[in-house]
Amino acid sequence: MNGWKNEAEGTWRRRDILKSVGLAAIVKATAGWAAGSTATQSFLPDVELALTAEPGEARILPGAPTQVWRYTGRVIKGPQEALQPVPNSYLGPTLRLQRGQRVRIRFSNRLPNPSIVHWHGLDLPEEADGHPRRVVASGGSYLYEFTVTDPAGTYWYHPHPHMETGSQVYRGLAGLLIVEDPKEQALNLPAGQQELTWVIQDRRFDARNQLVYASSRMDSVTGFLGDRVLVNGTERPQFALASRVYRARILNGSNARIYKLGWSDGTPVTVIGGQGGLLEAPVTQPFVTLAPAQRVDLWIDLRSRPVGSILELRSVEFAAADASVEMAGMMGGRGRGRGSMMMANSSALAQGGAVSLLSIRVARREEDNAALPARLGPAVPAADAAAAAPTRRIMLDVQGMQQWTIDGRVFGMTDVADSETVAAGSTHEWEFVNAGGPMGMQMAHPIHLHGRHFQVVGRSGGDPANTLRDGLIDRGWTDTVLVLPQESVRIRVTFSNHRGLYLYHCHILEHEDMGMMRNFRIV
Ligand code: C2O
Ligand code: CU
Ligand code: CU
Repeated sequence: MNGWKNEAEGTWRRRDILKSVGLAAIVKATAGWAAGSTATQSFLPDVELALTAEPGEARILPGAPTQVWRYTGRVIKGPQEALQPVPNSYLGPTLRLQRGQRVRIRFSNRLPNPSIVHWHGLDLPEEADGHPRRVVASGGSYLYEFTVTDPAGTYWYHPHPHMETGSQVYRGLAGLLIVEDPKEQALNLPAGQQELTWVIQDRRFDARNQLVYASSRMDSVTGFLGDRVLVNGTERPQFALASRVYRARILNGSNARIYKLGWSDGTPVTVIGGQGGLLEAPVTQPFVTLAPAQRVDLWIDLRSRPVGSILELRSVEFAAADASVEMAGMMGGRGRGRGSMMMANSSALAQGGAVSLLSIRVARREEDNAALPARLGPAVPAADAAAAAPTRRIMLDVQGMQQWTIDGRVFGMTDVADSETVAAGSTHEWEFVNAGGPMGMQMAHPIHLHGRHFQVVGRSGGDPANTLRDGLIDRGWTDTVLVLPQESVRIRVTFSNHRGLYLYHCHILEHEDMGMMRNFRIV
């Protein structure tokens, strides 16, 4: 089926949001700046930005332009580098902020639907976090005011309206958010022309070049997969670079696709950063597993490559069963405990299908004596998985074959269980358990916590033959951890000192939208 299938569903979704948020809040938001912060006089921003979400057009494929939704913006106050448009792309401008900066962002919603912006990976006051209960109606605005306290790193921003995050991100609403700080600058990593940003997203198009989304219920259950993979909004772009060292900040901005990133000539991948900024030390491995919402910073050394040579970044093939298993042999599974329900997904490019993402052409000779620092970021405290029992074991499960749940529950706008209430600044170990349920259906779920970064303490279970495992970047600080089928993953998190209602959820956006999301409350 072509186009946006769920028009009727969309109507009740909006009604549902109106009901849960309260009509009064919507009217208030439409009338003026929604007060995430009314204390605007006492807040003196270093940087003030305007960010608008609106319908537009992008040239993605040859021929007709594609209707998209996009973020556009401008700098009201502060350095122009704070907001850099991405040329020839539907992507939102890249925001470049300095640690310690006070930032004000005036968000305007010119979409036909309610929306709200979330700053993924930043530790922010509750009003600035973009919780879905703060959606603003079409025509409304929201004022964000916050101080950047997170370390230098690659973050991103995207909409977070309940039941519409998947469709809004898919239509084009997403952008990178880069934080810089003096510690990182002192390392003299490749910057300026030597810094690349790559946002990887898969999409499906109809014969008229228009985006196709959510064509079946099974697409939602497995997560929606496109059959063309775009980088910065272009299919297989080529970058003409010099024989120098580059830093590439890569975001998997896809709704549900996992990439296994590797170089076409088998050169190992050198990772310098993850989701909470630079790793303690560089890591070199054959490939990197990048799940939805995850970021990685690579060190790319082209110095020994002759002018004219080509290097491709690929997603290397992996078994669909590495990302989903279906024990009972239903839905086309092989019934041997490692069948895959991904077969039921309608995408022409299966989860795990090999695909070329982009190519680099060494276009010119240039001198570069950059050296890869042996030490990069702060040390992450040693985590002893055997030390104590986790504070909480959290089941990732499925109900009635169609509903993914967290601990048997689905999202409720302000719903918080006792086990989801934590003290400000307290440290907890949460273990996410891929439980499977009666049908034995399990998927790799990228689990994300809003607010503070956490560390991965350990993994147990899982199929030793699962090759995605070897590519995971578990060291360093993270905000989204991939829990593979049959696995339990334990994390240690020290919750923020900001009190209030925050989210944790699966970042397969169709899972999030169907309710595989919960609040936690910091008290
Ligand atoms: Cu990037 Cu709540 O998500
Ligand atoms: Cu987030
Ligand atoms: Cu999920």
